[in-house]
Amino acid sequence: MTDSLNGLKTSINRRSFVKNGLTAAGAATVGAGLLVSSSSAFAKKGPEEHSGSLTRGDAAILRFLAAAEILETDLWQQYNELGGIQDSEVPGGSGNSVYTAALAVLDEDMDQYIHDNTEDELTHEVFINAYLASKGADIVNLDEFRTLSSSQATGAQQIGRLTNLMQLTVDTSWWTRYRSSSKNPDFGDTFDQAVPTLNVGQHPAIPRTDDDLTPNDHIQAIANTAGFHFGTIEQGGTSLYPSLAQRVTHPDVLRIVLSIGPTEAMHCQTWQDKAGNAPALTDPKDSTLVFPDLNSPPLGGEEFQTNLIMPEPTIFLSRSLPACSIVRPTATKGAAMGALKFLTDMGLFIGQSPAFFALMRDLAEDADDARRAGR
Ligand SMILES: [Fe+2]
Ligand SMILES: [Fe+2]
Repeated sequence: MTDSLNGLKTSINRRSFVKNGLTAAGAATVGAGLLVSSSSAFAKKGPEEHSGSLTRGDAAILRFLAAAEILETDLWQQYNELGGIQDSEVPGGSGNSVYTAALAVLDEDMDQYIHDNTEDELTHEVFINAYLASKGADIVNLDEFRTLSSSQATGAQQIGRLTNLMQLTVDTSWWTRYRSSSKNPDFGDTFDQAVPTLNVGQHPAIPRTDDDLTPNDHIQAIANTAGFHFGTIEQGGTSLYPSLAQRVTHPDVLRIVLSIGPTEAMHCQTWQDKAGNAPALTDPKDSTLVFPDLNSPPLGGEEFQTNLIMPEPTIFLSRSLPACSIVRPTATKGAAMGALKFLTDMGLFIGQSPAFFALMRDLAEDADDARRAGR
């Protein structure tokens, strides 16, 4: 999947879409086909997106975050339709009782937590785009890429999706990364997987059809996969916001990223606790997928023990400074492209079009080009 990101330099260019869209539709019209919509009736046509009264860098960082939040909302929406609480705050779907029960093995309140995480992402997406619009900057609209299939299992809406939760390769190294007292990914360190077999092959995190609802250990393996995927996604958000915050300029934009980012950490903390309750088992329909007992030899101890859910203090900034309990990684260089690669490598976009990858890459590159004004 990495090739999808690297091989598209000559394909569709977002700026030409924006420019062409504005030329065709007029600057006052936000056409449904525009990939990046102009929010300003007085926007001038040009080779760059419009940043309004924001610096170009601030607008680019917020646009990448808006895109990331749109993608997060899309995946959480799929989880909520099948395993969360469907209500007026998070409408859509009708629930799948077997999947919901398997998730409840991790915590009896999983449906509530899935609902609340979904609602949070939706508000992040809507707020960031609304803030961009309020400053006369272009917003992000990914609607034309809602082309992927929904789950065919009972409970899911049949609508086009942006993300694919049925072929995931889940990196669970955050589990040991946050438990290490001597290593930090910003120093180039690497970390063991909590569930090595989730990090290879492709695994569903939602039932694909009602055939996935039996036998019990199979739907439990799918729920366990979701349980770890929740943590994987939210630790990514936990790092992304502080990583990009280091390059924003306006105090309000700094306030936005400093206020949303910690909510991602709250999600991550919750999911880390719940993933630790995933029962040890081997998937009866895929014997390559094994959830180990994290509390027993050869695992266990500080690296794996499931009730150690707070960050272990570790090295930060310099090995000569004392250990510190921190989010990691938080290096800012290339943070947006890193986040895009992370999402792509997990298989979240399997089935997406070259134009989707080209747009996301362009948004990420612009965010990574951003510099704090005055530096
Ligand atoms: Fe979010
Ligand atoms: Fe999130």
